[in-house]
Amino acid sequence: MAARCELSDVDDGTVLTLEKLYARLPDVNDIPIVEQNQIDDSGGSEIYGELTPRGVREVRELLSPRKDDVFYDLGSGAGRFVLQAALEWPCSHAVGIELSRTRHRVGEVALSRTAPFVRQRATLRCADMLTCEGCEDATLIYVASLVFDDAFMRQLGTRLSQLPRLRAIASLRPFPPGALPEFVPAKRNAAPDSDPATLRERVEATWGATRVFIYARET
Ligand SMILES: C[S@@+](CC[C@H](N)C(=O)[O-])C[C@H]1O[C@@H](n2cnc3c(N)ncnc32)[C@H](O)[C@@H]1O
Repeated sequence: MAARCELSDVDDGTVLTLEKLYARLPDVNDIPIVEQNQIDDSGGSEIYGELTPRGVREVRELLSPRKDDVFYDLGSGAGRFVLQAALEWPCSHAVGIELSRTRHRVGEVALSRTAPFVRQRATLRCADMLTCEGCEDATLIYVASLVFDDAFMRQLGTRLSQLPRLRAIASLRPFPPGALPEFVPAKRNAAPDSDPATLRERVEATWGATRVFIYARET
């Protein structure tokens, strides 16, 4: 995935705040080989890219967070999505789970620079999303799963289905059929990539516009 793109089209308070929080912190695209191997062993991928602030707002429209929601970003990288959610979303808490210690540490430094109200609402954990220990409070999940394979998505689906309060998932690639028992795919998940409605709904990422697949728990 390409390097971060310019953010001038969403030049507002949150963007400026994020720029300040991450000022002079190391680039997280490259991580030590030992961390790459650890991620490969988990079945995940170390390839990096982020949603832009605009993209995070577009995901918000798709997930409709509420005040009582606990949001998780699985594979949170340097934590930008989590910090933006803590700054802008109405949910009670935003949590990031990231396996790379290097990326996690950059996020921790940025988080330590935030105002106390953000630090109370955001948590970054260095952990494997497949075990996702302590994630039982999650109600909304985003996962940048674009480069994960079917085997990984099946394991992830099994774990997410065990989370008792989880009500909706936003994923950059679809889960294989049957991988998410108790969850219903949004109707538009089945539309072809060329469908005009799905073209309009793509969200902005550092590598371009990307499709998001939504799953809601059966009621
Ligand atoms: C494409 S980046 C997404 C960054 C951020 N969530 C965003 O969308 O802006 C995916 C991240 O998932 C992490 N990752 C891969 N496998 C993982 C695993 N098993 N557990 C936790 N994180 C993992 C990678 O290190 C990488 O930082």
